[in-house]
Formats: sequence, C-alpha cells, structure tokens
Amino acid sequence: MNTDPNFAAAGGRQGARDLLIEVDDLRTHFFGGAGTIKAVDGVSFSIPRGKTVCVVGESGSGKSITGRSILNQVPRGGRIVSGAIRYRPDPAAASVDLAALDPRGHGMRAIRGAQIGLISQEPMAALSPVHTIGNQM
Ligand SMILES: Nc1ncnc2c1ncn2[C@@H]1O[C@H](COP(=O)(O)OP(=O)(O)OP(=O)(O)O)[C@@H](O)[C@H]1O
Ligand SMILES: [Mg+2]
Repeated sequence: MNTDPNFAAAGGRQGARDLLIEVDDLRTHFFGGAGTIKAVDGVSFSIPRGKTVCVVGESGSGKSITGRSILNQVPRGGRIVSGAIRYRPDPAAASVDLAALDPRGHGMRAIRGAQIGLISQEPMAALSPVHTIGNQM
C-alpha cells in the first residue's frame, strides 16, 4: 500500500507534485502532401522540480518538436494529436495540461516566454548579446 500523502492527492501517481512537467504519451504529427509525418509518436518523460533533464537523440528524432509541443507552438502543418503535457508550477495546485490549451489563447500566452522558454539552435534568434545569460534566464 502506498502511504505517501501526496499519492492520493496527486490522483494516484506517486510524487506527481514533485514533477514540474510530465509528458505523457505525446504524439505530434504533421499532415501534408507527402502523408503523415509522425514527428513525435508516443513520448513520455518527466522533469522533476529543480532538476535538469537532457533529451538525446539522432537528428530528426523529434527533440525540437517535443520542445515546441511543450510550448504549444508546433510549426505550421503539425499539431499535437494526443497525449498530455502536465505542467505544475505550484506543487500545491492542480496541474494544467498544456497540450489541451488553445495555442493562441490567453492561458498559453501567459506561460510561453514568461515561464517556459526555448532557445533554438540559432541562439542569436533567442538570446540578446547585450544581456548576461543569467539575467535572461
Ligand atoms: N515544419 C515541419 N513540417 C514537417 N515535418 C517536420 C517539420 N519540422 C520537423 N519535421 C519532422 O519532424 C521530425 C522530427 O524533427 P525535429 O526537428 O524535432 O528533430 P530533432 O530531433 O530536433 O533533430 P535535430 O537534432 O536535427 O535538431 C523529422 O522527421 C522532421 O523532418
Ligand atoms: Mg532539433
């Protein structure tokens, strides 16, 4: 039997309150003339609060599209087709499913950039050269 007091409160997932982000069976596909590209197809991982998580994989394996999915900013032609991205900035509050938010809605815009950011492979596009990295973080 599980005696962790957080267990029941978190809906049965042990320690869910200690997880900042839980990506759960995420699928992000692109639909176009060439057929369906399953850029992300059943990805699950979590980011514990205060920890650093690295995702490693070969080119084209879906790392960037996973990141863009967390921001709910999938490039044109693609969309999150299923799965959940549970984001819990406040351990005492309920998580919000980023995948279920309107990409252009107020809720997502309040999180994107302000709470969750993405620095692309072209860092000059995301970072200012005249401010320290620490400040920008
Ligand atoms: N805008 C797009 N339209 C259609 N397919 C795309 C688009 N962007 C990415 N893809 C496809 O999604 C898959 C995953 O791409 P992604 O960019 O996430 O890979 P990656 O792991 O970040 O690669 P890299 O290490 O080269 O940055 C690839 O098959 C890619 O061709
Ligand atoms: Mg990439």
